[in-house]
Amino acid sequence: MNNPLILCRDLTRQYKMGAVTVHALRGLNLEIATGEFIVLLGPSGSGKTTTLNLVGGLDRPTGGAVLVGGEDITRYNEKQLTRYRREQVGFVFQFFNLIPTLTASENVEFALKLNGSNGRSAASRALELLDIVGLRERANHFPAELSGGEQQRVSIARALANHPALLLCDEPTGNLDVKTGHQVLQAIRDLNREEGTTVILVTHNTAIAPMADRIVRLSDGQIDSITVQDEPELVAELAW
Ligand SMILES: Nc1ncnc2c1ncn2[C@@H]1O[C@H](COP(=O)(O)OP(=O)(O)OP(=O)(O)O)[C@@H](O)[C@H]1O
Ligand SMILES: [Mg+2]
Repeated sequence: MNNPLILCRDLTRQYKMGAVTVHALRGLNLEIATGEFIVLLGPSGSGKTTTLNLVGGLDRPTGGAVLVGGEDITRYNEKQLTRYRREQVGFVFQFFNLIPTLTASENVEFALKLNGSNGRSAASRALELLDIVGLRERANHFPAELSGGEQQRVSIARALANHPALLLCDEPTGNLDVKTGHQVLQAIRDLNREEGTTVILVTHNTAIAPMADRIVRLSDGQIDSITVQDEPELVAELAW
């Protein structure tokens, strides 16, 4: 692969739990191209979240390297890592993690202001992003006044606020029914296609996998197999 956006090289992560060492990752090697849509599949405990956290700079590996655009982020100090996360990565989690006392729009604006946007430009960009995820009419709702799928779409809008190169999603549809899950996946796929955002989406749900450009299967902290899909299925065709 020429100039991959992400290169994980011999990545290991161990946790010392008293006398026991848990091997969460046992030497993961993976290249991801700019604009790819990767689905990371694997059973519970196989190392999916660990991988995502290392690529997103939320955690540091025990060994190996994570190169992003050629730079080894595992060598970054805390300040550089914070900046990397803020400027280059968007996170979407299973539990939407919205700030309950802020409206949908304010939740998105908050992320923009952390990166130095002023009030007016943050407000207009927030509306633009809510529009992309189909929620312009819900901009003034508080999280408690939104459905689960709507909350998740707000969190996607927030994750994309600063045009991250990389969107990391951990079970983004884990708490959603089929229909709202499809809407959320469609929103993520649209952003991937239209803005060229590279996506790594972690899931247990094998029914989601056909929409990926590549399916990476993890097992016990290692890559089990990788499937390339030249013609990924449309979200609307996913049967789940
Ligand atoms: N902070 C931690 N301390 C100790 N062990 C941990 C920690 N985080 C993860 N582990 C262990 O590392 C392994 C991989 O965990 P990880 O969270 O990456 O799995 P996962 O594939 O995301 O699973 P799930 O599908 O259940 O979310 C597991 O065996 C887990 O128990
Ligand atoms: Mg997990």
